[in-house]
Amino acid sequence: MIGIVGLGFVGLSLAVAIASKGYTVIGVDIDRGKVELIRKGEPPFHEPGLREVLGNTVGEKLHVSDDYRDLMDADVVFICVGTPTLPDGRQDRRALESAIHGLAEMYSEDRGKRFRVIAVKSTVLPGTTRELAQTFSKLSGLRLGVDYGFAMNPEFLREGRALEDTLHPSRVVIGCVDDRGCRVVEEFYREFYGRVGHDARILLMSAEEAELVKYASNLFLATRISYANNLARICEAIDNCDILRVLEGTGLDPRIGTHYLRPGLGYGGSCLPKDVKALKHYMEEKRVDPALPEAVDRINETQPLRAVQWLREALGSLEGKIITVLGLAFKPGTDDIRDSVSLKIINELLEEGAAVRVHDLMALKNVRRIYGDRLKYYDDPREALRGSDGAVVATEWDIYRELGPEDYAGLMRTPVVIDGRRIYDPWRFKGDSRIRFYAVGLSRRYSGPS
Ligand code: UGA
Repeated sequence: MIGIVGLGFVGLSLAVAIASKGYTVIGVDIDRGKVELIRKGEPPFHEPGLREVLGNTVGEKLHVSDDYRDLMDADVVFICVGTPTLPDGRQDRRALESAIHGLAEMYSEDRGKRFRVIAVKSTVLPGTTRELAQTFSKLSGLRLGVDYGFAMNPEFLREGRALEDTLHPSRVVIGCVDDRGCRVVEEFYREFYGRVGHDARILLMSAEEAELVKYASNLFLATRISYANNLARICEAIDNCDILRVLEGTGLDPRIGTHYLRPGLGYGGSCLPKDVKALKHYMEEKRVDPALPEAVDRINETQPLRAVQWLREALGSLEGKIITVLGLAFKPGTDDIRDSVSLKIINELLEEGAAVRVHDLMALKNVRRIYGDRLKYYDDPREALRGSDGAVVATEWDIYRELGPEDYAGLMRTPVVIDGRRIYDPWRFKGDSRIRFYAVGLSRRYSGPS
């Protein structure tokens, strides 16, 4: 029997994936509303395929609850709670600690009856898992490696592909605190992926190495994006340059490649921005020069503001100007707006006195919760553009690709168009004299081949 604490993207995806392969799974979350929704088969967030698998498993193999006691019979418990950042840059461990307390209280009751393993899936800084194991020993009176095991098992799934990535991960990393616990987690995964039919690469290492693998992966991914965006700024500053051609020219070197190098208005979401900042803070604490995460973060913080600079360049003061932001989710295919670059752009526009209109396919509700009537919300991108002075494509939803220069020119009052995700053929837009067109990484003056 498998226990899961924390039913967010990671926890719920893991819970349904495991339950769908015949394991009995108990998922616990302290948010009662969320538990109620899941019980009814309603996913609390949008994730492709989740509703269907949840419907097939909940109440059968998957049980959800807001009470830790229901985890009594679990052999392995995965902790999947969030680890947000505190205002001073440190990691907020309160959810983790409360999970450790909850589990310790319960497991201390039947001491020694069963060897259980706790595996931390939450993203935590090196050293944290071992400290949590010590806290657990102290609180429960149980002995590490004898009565219970402890492990670190980072998660690499992407939102929008949570189930697919859980069932077919590129690798499974298990960080060991004690040997026995580590072997139990390894055995579980071997069996689970055997049932899935996926030949999983399983790597065993120290807990600290596993913790660092997670940050190192996200730092590398974020570095690729900031690399593309920093080079994009060079292209914008000179003539006859398009970042997409430059990246194609570099990417054919197989050591570089072209994937995960899309220039844009920056990376958002609940992971990359937070993890890069946390690593930077951690390196400072350890007196290691955080040159890389610092630069990657700095490039990303200023990148969304390019859109506002271009609007100002084209329209002068933004006071009273009507600006349409197309796309609010941090990437297409999700309703998640955590650290979305669109919010940074909206804040700046409001600050400058612009009248802001917004459109998104999934995230309107979440954005309305934050901004209320300070924005105008639209279900149809064409309506959002009608009569506006500037438009920014901030998330690359496919529906925006269907809009051509004739739509923007026909609908807008002063057609200033900013392609913040490089979804348009720039030559079509530049060829329309009614439109003032800006795109990330594209020179203003270009006389090269089109
Ligand atoms: C990211 C990682 O890709 C996962 O491997 C990791 O497990 C996860 O964080 C996590 O730590 O939990 P996710 O946040 O779902 O996954 O989103 P991505 O698809 O990686 O996109 C992140 C941001 O980067 C988005 O805002 C996206 O628009 C932007 N991006 C991505 C670019 O600007 N250019 C690219 O080439 C790729």
